[in-house]
Amino acid sequence: MTGFSDRVEQVSISGIREVFEAAGDDAINLGLGQPDFPTPEHARQAAVEAIEAGEADAYTSNKGTRELREAISAKHERDNDLSVDPADVIATAGGSEALHLALEAHVDAGEEVLIPDPGFVAYDALTRLAGGEPVPVALREDLTLDPGAVEDAITEDTAAFVVNSPGNPTGAVQSEEDVREFARIADEHDVLCLSDEVYEHIVFEGDHHSPMEFAESDNVVVVNACSKTYSMTGWRLGWVAASERRIERMLRVHQYAQACASAPAQFAAEAALAGPQEPVEEMVAAFEERRDVLLDGFADMGIDCPTPKGAFYAMPEVPDGWVDEVIDRGVVVVPGEAFGDHGAGHARISYATDLETLKEAIEVMRGATEAIR
Ligand SMILES: Cc1ncc(COP(=O)(O)O)c(C=O)c1O
Repeated sequence: MTGFSDRVEQVSISGIREVFEAAGDDAINLGLGQPDFPTPEHARQAAVEAIEAGEADAYTSNKGTRELREAISAKHERDNDLSVDPADVIATAGGSEALHLALEAHVDAGEEVLIPDPGFVAYDALTRLAGGEPVPVALREDLTLDPGAVEDAITEDTAAFVVNSPGNPTGAVQSEEDVREFARIADEHDVLCLSDEVYEHIVFEGDHHSPMEFAESDNVVVVNACSKTYSMTGWRLGWVAASERRIERMLRVHQYAQACASAPAQFAAEAALAGPQEPVEEMVAAFEERRDVLLDGFADMGIDCPTPKGAFYAMPEVPDGWVDEVIDRGVVVVPGEAFGDHGAGHARISYATDLETLKEAIEVMRGATEAIR
């Protein structure tokens, strides 16, 4: 009998794509989860040179080239004050594969994974594909994840909880105090903290912290990627960093599902991580300026929006019918419920678009808001 697995039948194609497809070709797209900046030239060039020299034709080591893993290790030292052995890193096909490895390697059938609600769509789907059961944890009013709510939701079936700071779809950044709490919870309850740090560099206020800085046990797996930081979404290059025993288990999945991350992308990522970081600073400054313009726009419209402190998303509270009205008027935004039941009544606005276009979109949103009031 050819049938489909129960696991795959529980997952559907992300609702976000459907919104894009429903909008016309000349719609302004504030739905995209990718920076509108080019990949830094030195990163592109490193891939071109490796290709031309014939160095990127073959499989690399399953974990990724030694040089890339050394660059990732140096990045953790430089940015996170963390000592990560290059042997304790696996280069993956983006943060997405990194999340997949972590969940496949740590979640048994029927085990629970606590995920932020609203939260990035892959947490629910990848948990189900691993045979686990996602348990949504409602965010606080300010759209951060409450460590107390995580701790309360832990049962004897909990395998892991996901922390994502800065967050998608919220733009929220967890405080250092919260992050310390997440580390304590992972230690004390002996559950895995899966820390998705793909937006770590896109922070406007406060500092990014990783639970790995504070945990005493090895119960933290860090997921990261070049995708957002270096505007490299198309290159598909991310990584997991964890203890030796966890990396060994995740490698069992990666080795058979992926063999290794794309070799040209590994060369580009090494250059991006080790090279000049000014392009990142310029991008973050541009995002901050756009965020401020967007927040002013919402304030003028009388729409409440918690101030996003990172990433490039805002998640205002919107009146009934607002999302449809905005989309009908030619601006694509994503309804909050695409990210979980507690996203209802909100919309996710990505401001990864140039300032002029953003201002145009704000006027459309203003018109839509007036029309439905
Ligand atoms: C929170 C979060 N984690 C992981 C990813 C996956 O990133 P990648 O493109 O590196 O697979 C995304 C992409 O949107 C994301 O928003």
